[in-house]
Amino acid sequence: MVGIIPEDKINEIRQSIDIVDIIGEYVHLKKQGRNYFGLCPFHGENTPSFSVSADKQIYHCFGCGAGGNAISFLMDIDGLSFQEAIIKLAEKTNVSLDIEKEAEVHTHEPKANIEKKQMKAAHEFLSKFYHHLLVNTKEGQKALEYLLDRGFSKASIEKFQIGYALPSWDFTVKLLQKRGYELTLMEKAGLIIKKENDNAYFDRFRSRIMFPIQNSKGETIAFSGRAIDQDDQPKYLNSPETELFNKRSILYNFNRAKGFIKKQQQAILFEGFADVISADNAEINNGIATMGTSLTEQHVQLIRRMTDSVIICYDSDFAGIEAAFRAGNMLTEQHCHIRIARMPKNLDPDDYIKKYGTEKFRQDVIGNSLTFMAFKMEYYRLGKKLQNEGEKLQYIEKVIEEISRLEKAVERDHYLRQLADEFSISLEALKQQQKQAYYTSKRKNKHQTEQKPKQLYIQPDGRLFPANQTAERRLLAHMLQNAELAFKIKDLLNGIILYYDEHQAILTYLLGYYEEGNEPNTSKFLLHLPDDKLRRIVTELEMMPINNEVSDKEIEDYVNQVLKHQKMLKIKEKENLQKKAEQQNDLKKAMSLAMEIIQLRKSL
Ligand code: GTP
Ligand code: MN
Repeated sequence: MVGIIPEDKINEIRQSIDIVDIIGEYVHLKKQGRNYFGLCPFHGENTPSFSVSADKQIYHCFGCGAGGNAISFLMDIDGLSFQEAIIKLAEKTNVSLDIEKEAEVHTHEPKANIEKKQMKAAHEFLSKFYHHLLVNTKEGQKALEYLLDRGFSKASIEKFQIGYALPSWDFTVKLLQKRGYELTLMEKAGLIIKKENDNAYFDRFRSRIMFPIQNSKGETIAFSGRAIDQDDQPKYLNSPETELFNKRSILYNFNRAKGFIKKQQQAILFEGFADVISADNAEINNGIATMGTSLTEQHVQLIRRMTDSVIICYDSDFAGIEAAFRAGNMLTEQHCHIRIARMPKNLDPDDYIKKYGTEKFRQDVIGNSLTFMAFKMEYYRLGKKLQNEGEKLQYIEKVIEEISRLEKAVERDHYLRQLADEFSISLEALKQQQKQAYYTSKRKNKHQTEQKPKQLYIQPDGRLFPANQTAERRLLAHMLQNAELAFKIKDLLNGIILYYDEHQAILTYLLGYYEEGNEPNTSKFLLHLPDDKLRRIVTELEMMPINNEVSDKEIEDYVNQVLKHQKMLKIKEKENLQKKAEQQNDLKKAMSLAMEIIQLRKSL
């Protein structure tokens, strides 16, 4: 698995990085005791069960079982090969690898991977080309003027690699072909379209301002093209869904914003990418946007990994308010703290920043954003005539229902007072009604409390494992910490194979690892394991609290537990043979088996 990068280089790199920093770029980690905890990036969850150990330089998720060291983390999260992960880590350290990038060629790479790489390469190439057309050519001049007129800065155009696609039916087709890209693949990538009746292709994007869309690794995987003429429909034309691009999981600008989001512990969610770019130009760099679709659970999980605090800054029209309400509810459900920024009518954030400037945007829009509760109080008012007694009572009821969902008593009190003041109702009466609303909803919920999905791959506390499994796990855990003890246990086992194949495999690899003269070091040992399943088990064992001053007696007990289980299996096997012998009237054989069984029973 190590391949062309020398082992000592790999170790040097491993030693000069800190797994907490590496994972910290992807997951918001909080220190708790000796370890760090965060939301697992490999499965959706609301309570952190993903733990990172700085001492051991490994991570493990108690929810889904994912586990490994910094290298395997990068491999899994970014879909990198082992060598690519090492190269990426080397770039973060002062270790120089002295290998050509070309040396990465993988002869056995699956076809699907190669195709994806080519599709990405075509996007990268086109985004450079489109950008060149926009900023350097006469053909792009009108588009560039349009952007500059709209207030896009030259720096933004550069940073976001904004480009221009020519008003031609086959310019891109020909360009890609000339560059050696296979047209069937380019169609799969969504860049060109196949004509219905003949085998010809034409350009998907024509006469549009091109916004490259990047995934969270920063790879360009799609485009959105904005029409320049007002009559051109649609206003924004997106790449279709492809193997690279899934609107439901892509957030515009996420790859640039994620670091800022994590540092500032806040994300700003916009509706359009013009807003994101404008905000970025005003040095608000934690802005992201969906691809013109509503927020999905996948988007929420992506944001949640970085922060639990989100400001929703949507347009002030009716659609924007509805969308903010929906997004706010989704984020709140995942335990985010939400604020809702409000824009004056008919302005979107982009317009606002251009009209009033950054400072005013920061202060009056972001700074004056409403809590989600305050926003809901306004939301439920929309379209209601509160002078009408019936509608007023309906409104109050709805708001009380929302207030009773608030967790903090201080907050409940605050909004109840506000309601009491506005409608001149006694606070006592409102409080009483709120209590009632709370108990009613609690009763309702009781009937439909969902069972928490059982996603435990491995039980973290060992309790639910059969005794022999626990014994094997404990033995391995001790062997991982202490080489001398490992060989002692090997002798005690005396050639007995562990019952669980994975355990036996780990044991074999571990002894081999020690025999090569390596010291106990889980992060390093993980590199010697050939598959993910074994790595998961090892990280899990490492995270298991064990007594470092283990007594000989305790170790012997575990070994006996393992041996006992093996004997029980043997007894069962012999009992079956005995039955068969009886059926075949082979009484002599049955007798001798019975004796063996008795001997085995005695030895238990
Ligand atoms: P400008 O008009 O260029 O300022 O863009 P905007 O961001 O103000 O656009 P708008 O508020 O109309 O739309 C917000 C987002 O919705 C855009 O960034 C797009 O992602 C998406 N969107 C808008 N119009 C279309 C469309 O016609 N088709 C598609 N697929 N998406 C659109
Ligand atoms: Mn706009």
